[in-house]
Amino acid sequence: MPAAASKADTDASVNSAAPSLVWSEQDLAGDPHKTADKPERVKRMFGAIAKRYDLNNRVHSFGRDQKWRREAVKESAVRPGEVVLDAACGTGDLTRLFAQTRAQRVVGLDFTPEMLAIANERLSRDKRRQVLAASRIEYVEGDAQDLPFDDATFNVVSIAFGVRNVSAPDKALREFCRVLKPTGRLVVLEFSEPRSPLLKKLNHIYCSRIMPVTATWLSGDTTGAYRYLPRSVEKFRDRLAMVQAIRDAGFSAVTQRPLTFGVCVCYRGVAPMPSKAEPKKPGRMRHPGLR
Ligand SMILES: C[S@@+](CC[C@H](N)C(=O)[O-])C[C@H]1O[C@@H](n2cnc3c(N)ncnc32)[C@H](O)[C@@H]1O
Repeated sequence: MPAAASKADTDASVNSAAPSLVWSEQDLAGDPHKTADKPERVKRMFGAIAKRYDLNNRVHSFGRDQKWRREAVKESAVRPGEVVLDAACGTGDLTRLFAQTRAQRVVGLDFTPEMLAIANERLSRDKRRQVLAASRIEYVEGDAQDLPFDDATFNVVSIAFGVRNVSAPDKALREFCRVLKPTGRLVVLEFSEPRSPLLKKLNHIYCSRIMPVTATWLSGDTTGAYRYLPRSVEKFRDRLAMVQAIRDAGFSAVTQRPLTFGVCVCYRGVAPMPSKAEPKKPGRMRHPGLR
């Protein structure tokens, strides 16, 4: 275990997170996705690392993370006037890239207030600077597994590094299918493992031994977030299972594209046309920000 994280876990005076919401060595020895209070822990963890989240991403992906998000935007092939939902948007890095397309409106949704606070601070700053793209963005606090939107609201739904963090990924995928218009596109970015045995080994050493120490130091984290990260990737479904899960949620033409030797994968799926026999489902409350 990295020294910084180990000390934080045992030193109550520096540990600002409630002990039960910290990822302990014992929790991570098993499968963190099966932890009963995963949603509370995940929320607490992202709340704790929000301030340095973007910096950590840039440093520890060697600047690749924005390139991966740009690839996701490319895959979604947004057309002029379309409406986009970026689920589990965090601090809004991907949301902002979507707003630079010709989308009419981009909604970022997340359940961690501290991540959204940073997204909103940036939005206000961009609006003050009269950045055109900012006028297209709206952030909403909500759960990716129970979206506060009507059926068939969006042309594109994205989720970057979020599907692994929700407690019921299949439920979230079904929600994405529900809120997409017929033939709307889903794009998912998620970490994976390189196929080459040598790169897989090097990536494992980096993610499990080096990154947890340096990222924990950089963020001042006391929740075990950067020890949870590699373990959550290791225990999450592999590429084929992910493709199958997207199909099972109702999507067709599902593809997967490895990025940077397969450290990250961009998945894409297309929402189905409604069957004529299917009665229209009663609509949910439409989010007031959406016309
Ligand atoms: C690794 S961050 C990714 C943030 C952003 N998409 C990015 O590209 O940097 C994962 C995000 O998922 C959010 N999250 C996890 N479970 C969620 C849920 N059930 N509903 C909404 N957001 C969720 C967390 O709050 C966190 O901001």
